[in-house]
This record gives sequence, structure tokens and C-alpha cells, in this order.
Amino acid sequence: MTELLARTVSVAKQGNILVATVDNPPVNALSHSVRAGLIEAVKALEGDAAARAMIIVCEGRTFIAGADIHEFKKPMVAPLLGEVIDTLDAATKPIIAAIHGTALGGGLEVALACSYRIALDGAKVGLPEVKLGILPGSGGTVRLPRLAGVEQALAMISEGGQIPARDAREKGIVDEVVSGDLRSAAVAFAAKVVADGGKVRRTTDLPVPSFDPAALEASRAALAKKYKGFKAPLVAVDLIKMVTETPVAEAIALEYKTCKELLVSPQSKALRHIFAAEREALKIDGVDAEVKPRDIKKVAIVGPGTMGRGIASCFVNIGIPVTLIGLTDEGLASAVKAIGKIYEGSVKRGSLTAEEMERRMALLTTTTAYDGISDVDLVIEAVTEQLDVKKEVFAKLDAVLRDDAIIATNTSFLDIEELAATSKNATRIAGMHFFNPANVMKLLENVRAAKTAPDVLATTTALGKRLGKVPVMVGRSEGFVANRMLSKRTREAQFLLEDGATPQQVDRVLTAFGFPIGPFALADLAGMDIMAAARAARVARMSPREQQCNIVDRLVAAGRLGQKSSAGYYVYDDNRKASHDPAVDELLDAHRRERGFTARAISDEEILERCLFAMVNEAARILDEGAAARPGDIDVIWTNGFGFPTYLGGPMFMPTRSACRRSRRRSTNMRASLAISISSRPR
Ligand code: CAA
Repeated sequence: MTELLARTVSVAKQGNILVATVDNPPVNALSHSVRAGLIEAVKALEGDAAARAMIIVCEGRTFIAGADIHEFKKPMVAPLLGEVIDTLDAATKPIIAAIHGTALGGGLEVALACSYRIALDGAKVGLPEVKLGILPGSGGTVRLPRLAGVEQALAMISEGGQIPARDAREKGIVDEVVSGDLRSAAVAFAAKVVADGGKVRRTTDLPVPSFDPAALEASRAALAKKYKGFKAPLVAVDLIKMVTETPVAEAIALEYKTCKELLVSPQSKALRHIFAAEREALKIDGVDAEVKPRDIKKVAIVGPGTMGRGIASCFVNIGIPVTLIGLTDEGLASAVKAIGKIYEGSVKRGSLTAEEMERRMALLTTTTAYDGISDVDLVIEAVTEQLDVKKEVFAKLDAVLRDDAIIATNTSFLDIEELAATSKNATRIAGMHFFNPANVMKLLENVRAAKTAPDVLATTTALGKRLGKVPVMVGRSEGFVANRMLSKRTREAQFLLEDGATPQQVDRVLTAFGFPIGPFALADLAGMDIMAAARAARVARMSPREQQCNIVDRLVAAGRLGQKSSAGYYVYDDNRKASHDPAVDELLDAHRRERGFTARAISDEEILERCLFAMVNEAARILDEGAAARPGDIDVIWTNGFGFPTYLGGPMFMPTRSACRRSRRRSTNMRASLAISISSRPR
């Protein structure tokens, strides 16, 4: 008989084994009722003389995926997770965690406090708290090193990665990996533990395995470099070091204190905002969550250029066959060769097996004729950015595709409505704007046109997730969201040059802020000829100052095309290392003279504010026009598309936070100046 102990936890007996089942969709997070229910389950175990052991198993897609993030914003209500863990740890009969899906964060901490862990093949375990700007707070840093070793625990805690069940078994985190029916396997495992004497095994009774202190310090240096600007990974090193030197109870208390402090830090708030915003972005404005995406089994990609190749590999990577369409056999052959070369690199580095490479390449076919793609479910058009050329492709596709096949354009700035209008069925037209290199970049701007069918929008979103991308739905807008905001930042950066700043100064300020690359180094990477062509296409619609701000044209005229010609805003050596070039100072001086600007000293603060505010102002216009549904969508776009530091929460999250901080600071300063003026008054 099943007994409900709390809204989300029930127990049932199977012989002398108590089966505690957690059922808290969608991911069995440790909400209040789960915490209370687990404590009740242990009480039921202790109170039932006939029950000799207990298994904890979860319904649905996963084992407990961690603390309930939605509860972080409110004061926590007892019992806290620590109490659950203490109760599990103090049990006098063995408890076995039965893991499927992912045991993450507090979920893994629950499992680590059990006597044994059994996992379904394919399950994963991890302590991903660091990704939310916090660290484990309920014994994870104390128990994991005792099972897996200090270095392994540090790697998992400081980077937040998940490891597969088989690896977890090898590392001592999991006792057994099974396939088939997990519940039955766990009951059988528990029965065996009982038959062997039913001993309780406490992880905290184990000693901390010996480790190399120098390795911890090396990790600290590597983490500081890899996670520049992030606080929690470095705190993880201190915490693990402390755990190795401190008795268990004290270490657990210190771990909890550290986690609590991090939880209220600005970085954690920002990272949690991004976590929530990425999930919110999957909800398409105006499209019911019940709308089913279409089934995408076969894809064609038109255009075997840089973007087409990258997009093709995204699909074959997840096992979807791709037909690549090009104008010539030679162009197609060179595309296939280029894709193969990328995989070969991965095989050499050991991140891909030769068999997997072969499997992926076998999913790739090419053709110059459209009639071979009549059975595909989706076509992504990635030809040159010319409206006429794209319209021609659309017409050819309309002629051969099934009525329910989707046509998506990868355009980065052309008008999606004009393209949709050329199709005989505008409801199947959408945009899927990948970023270069498409096989690497996480961001996918999915574009909706006025008539795009709801299930087409649901399909591009679901597909984005399947491809491992972070999809965000955007509306009609020149440059959509990412590039439109970028172009305003680029424009402001050039105005700063006119006012007296140098490319080095602007790039230094923006990289110190946290961007991976400054706007001028980025321009050199993109190519000045590309920048000049984009400028020429828009020049008639520019403000007078922008029209006359033709620094890019001057660089092109001087043969400075960026990295490709070893000179742009910087000069490059054979290893692509950038250096300052006095010739650029002269070019800028000449520009200022001609345009009537006098160079002045510009503060770093002015540079940062002008660049960021240019983006934020454009974002406000984008939101006003409805081209993005929510401010959080813009934060997701910038953190995934252009490396806006996630620990600052994105361009929309950050200004409101820093404005609040600044106004607090201002009132403190006002109080201070008031105090000075009062004390200095003649008495
Ligand atoms: N708490 C509450 N809700 C959560 C959640 C959590 N920990 N994790 C995921 N969800 C919700 C998501 O918001 C989403 O909700 P909606 O459908 O309403 O948008 C839903 O679960 C599904 O999430 P995903 O879309 O991410 O589903 P997925 O299948 O792609 O991934 C997952 C599942 C791997 C569990 C992923 O959601 C994930 O990584 N979650 C975060 C896990 C985590 O960070 N745990 C540690 C929390 S901190 C902690 O545990 C320590 C502590 O005590 C302080």
C-alpha cells in the first residue's frame, strides 16, 4: 500500500524494503514538501521494525535536480536541506539512492548522504551550483572529496560539470550502474545489502584521501584564467582546501555559511537571472505551450558557404541527415572537405571518435539539383545576403517541397516579411539566424514573421534546443536584436575615436569590463571590407554624424582590411598578435581635422557608459517595437551571442542593478558632503 507522506513524497513496502518515491515535476527539485517528505520517509523507515532498508527513487524524467531555485527569492521555510541530509546521515538502516536522469546539486547531496548509490546507465551526476554563482551548501564539498578524491571533487565543484554514471562508478561516487528497470534493480540491491548484514555506510566516516596541495594551487590559477571575473570557482578552491583540514561538523557549518553568503551576492543574482531567462525564452509569446512542434527528420541546407557548412554540421552532430545544396560540385566538395577537417581536428584532440566522425560524415549528402530534396522537413537557406538571390531560392524551394515543409532563412539583416511575401505559403516561412562559427556559437535567433504558423515557431524553438543551442524568438527588425544592438555599440565606439579616444583604450575598457574582445579588435576579425559594405548598405538611413564618420572607409582605402591583411585598427604579426600602429593615430588625427573634432582626454568611465548605454537605448527601442518579447530575452542574446559577462546578468539586468547601487552610493555621498559642510560651518 502506498502512503502519501507529503504532497510530493510517498512510501510503499516491497517485502522488507521501503520504497520512498519523490514526485515533484518537472525536475523533482527539493521544494519544501520534498524536504519535509524525505524526513518523514526516514521516520517511517525507523518506525517500521519490519523495514530493513529504504530506496529513494523519483518519478518523471529525473532524480532530484537540486534545490528549488524558485524558493531562493523567499526566506527558506524549515525543514532546510541540511536537516534532510542530517536525517539521512543519522539513519540506522541503510538507504539507497536510485538515480536516473540527473542527480544535481542538492539532489546529489541527498544521494551522497545515503549509504549507497545505484544509477541507471545514461544518468549523470554533478554539483552545478557554481553556475548559479553559489557552491554546495549541504555537505557536497565535504562528502564528494571523501568518495572521489580531492582533485576530482574540486574539478566537479569549481566547474559545475556533469559526469556520466559509468564515470561516477569508476570514481567511487556511484556503487552500481544498471540498465532496465531502475526501481526493481534498486530494490534487489537493497535486499542484497540487507542479506549482507544491512550495515549503514556513512560517507562522512571516510577519511579525506591524500592529495597534492600544489595541484590545488595550479587549479586556482587555471580557474582564475578560465573563469575570469567569476567569484564562486575561486571560493570553491578555498572551501575544498578548508574541508581537507577541518573536522566534518565544522566543515559542514563553514560550507553552509559560504553558500549563504554567495547566495545573496550580485553575481549569484545575475547568474540565476540568466538561468531563468534562458528557460523563459523558450516560451514563445502568443503561442500556446500545448502547440506541438513538427517532426524534423531530414534537413536541406542551401548554400555551402561558411554559414551553410557550420549549420550542416550542427544537424549531423545530432544525427539528422542533411542535404547540402550548392551551385557547383566543386563548391560542394570543398564544403564537405572543410566540415571533415573540423571533425578530423576533434578526432586528433580526442574529443570525437573516428567512428563517430564517419557516422556524421555519412549523414551528409550534396546536390546541385533542388528536385532531390522533395522529402525534407526543413530547409535552411544560407545563401549570399542579397534579397534577389534569396527570393530566387525561395521560389525554387516552393516548387519542390511538401506543403508542410518549413523554409527558414539564415539572413542576418534582410527583411523577413519581404521574403515571406514571395512564398506561396507564408505560414511556413521563418528565420533561423545562426552565429558564426555556427557549430560553436550557442545563440540562435529564431525569427517570426507576421504570418508564420504557431507550430513552425514551436518547431524552430524545439529544434534550437535539440541542437544544443540557446534559441530566442525575435521579430522583424533590421539586424534583429544581437547585431542591431552591436551596430549601435560599434557606432558609439567610432564616435569615441572622433572625440579623442584610441582603439586600444576602448578595447581595453570593454575587455576589462568582461567582454571577450573589444569592438575594434572585433572589427579587425570581421574584416574592414565587410564592415564597409554593411555601412554602404545603410548609409542613406544614417544620422548626419554617422554618415560622416567614415573611419572604416579610410581604413579600407589605406589597404587596412583587418586581420586578413595583417593591418586594421591594429597591426598583426605572423601569430596574429595585435600591436598599436602609429599609422592609425595619424589616420584618426587626419579624420578629426577634416571633420572639425578636437581630441580630448576621455575617461574610461565615459567610454564604458557610452558603449553600454548605446546598446541599452537600442534595446529599449527593440522592446518598444516588439522585436524582442522580454528584457530577459535580450540578456540571453547578449550573454550567449557576444560574451556579455553572465555574472553581470546581461545589458538589461545590469543597468537597473547598478543604477540602484549608484543611487545608494549617491545618497551616501550626499550624506557625507552634508556632514562636511555642517562641520566646516563657522560656529
Ligand atoms: N528548481 C526549480 N525549477 C527547476 C530547477 C530547479 N533546480 N531546474 C530546472 N527547473 C525547471 C526549469 O525552470 C523548467 O521550468 P519551465 O518548464 O517552467 O520553464 C523545467 O524545470 C525544465 O528545465 P529545463 O528546461 O532546464 O529542462 P532540461 O531537461 O533541459 O534540463 C536539468 C533539466 C538538467 C535538471 C536543468 O533544468 C538544470 O540544469 N537545472 C538546474 C540544476 C541546478 O542548478 N541544481 C542546483 C541547484 S542549487 C542546489 O541544489 C544547492 C543548494 O541547495 C543551494
